[in-house]
Amino acid sequence: MTHAPHPAIAAGAHPFPHLHLLGLSALKPWEMLFLLDEAEQWVEFNRRPKNLGEAKHDNRLAGLTQINAFFENSTRTLLSFEIAGKRLGADVVNLGVSGSSVKKGETLLDTALTLNAMHPDLIVIRHGSSGAVQLIAEKLDCPVLNAGDGRHEHPTQALLDALTIRRRKGRIEGLTVAICGDILHSRVARSNFQLLGSLGAKVRAVAPPTLLPTNIDALGVDCFTNMDDGLAGADVVMMLRLQTERMDGAYVPSTREYFRFYGLTEARLRHAAPDVLVMHPGPMNRGVEIDGRIADDITRSAVTEQVEMGVAVRMACLDVLTRTRRGAKDWPPLLPSRHQEGPLSLLPSRLREGPGVGEPAPSPDAIGQAR
Ligand code: NCD
Repeated sequence: MTHAPHPAIAAGAHPFPHLHLLGLSALKPWEMLFLLDEAEQWVEFNRRPKNLGEAKHDNRLAGLTQINAFFENSTRTLLSFEIAGKRLGADVVNLGVSGSSVKKGETLLDTALTLNAMHPDLIVIRHGSSGAVQLIAEKLDCPVLNAGDGRHEHPTQALLDALTIRRRKGRIEGLTVAICGDILHSRVARSNFQLLGSLGAKVRAVAPPTLLPTNIDALGVDCFTNMDDGLAGADVVMMLRLQTERMDGAYVPSTREYFRFYGLTEARLRHAAPDVLVMHPGPMNRGVEIDGRIADDITRSAVTEQVEMGVAVRMACLDVLTRTRRGAKDWPPLLPSRHQEGPLSLLPSRLREGPGVGEPAPSPDAIGQAR
């Protein structure tokens, strides 16, 4: 699927003038679209049948070292970044928290300086604290990709969601997208609010009152606490897991009760548009936020397609972020400032003022002590 360049890019705007990909709040709509457009070629590339002798291997990142530093558990995101890097020819190294000196008491910043001393060309970071990835990025000399920080942002997840929607529905603009469940603790929801909102979708947040940020009204989404109302006429329904590891108390009476009122069932889904697309970033908890039969119904569920799009989107991001370093042909110079994003820019602009939504970017001291 090819898309004509956005008019802003056709008129000379830089397609992606950033050193890092830390979040989506700092991006212009055409920069987001540029990454989606770039990902299309990798979707086709990844589908190459191996019996025709076509290797799924491209050498553009040959000789570059990519470190995936994951300070929080992950299955699909880590694997996806690893496969993406390898398919582009990078030397990929994974650092998991259980195997790192973080467990021996080293501060996060010391770990960052250690990684930097090994001259990586690209670092992909996941961390449990909101703002931690930006803090590390400021200490590194290479592009940094945020693979999820606390409840703050998960930019490549939102990009892969958008790519899935665009390919299935042919557009994003004008669609009604209901994001349902544990919005309060979700970096996926936050990044999707930014991305889908910027690309013209009508975005809804559907959750029990306890799982909605207190100043949700400032997020530019329509808010529902009744699931049937929130699903009414929706073109896309995106379900979220109860992220209990990020909870500091009981937010729902029980998972049974939660499923009764907020689980995605056949009956509930009838309120949505007849051709509704069901999505979930995974990992899924069947019988808690979603009925397993809906998740498995490939006519409506895009769950495995999301995983597929994830590899393509990450290949696009790895390629684009290393273009300057590789001296890629026809790639314009980046913005002059090395730190193009200020300390608070990671937080969506609408969130910066209000207390209680997400978490403020932590102070360097707090993160420095984070283990
Ligand atoms: C999400 C995450 O880690 O934020 N998962 C993912 O990246 N595939 C959502 C979640 O953990 O529920």
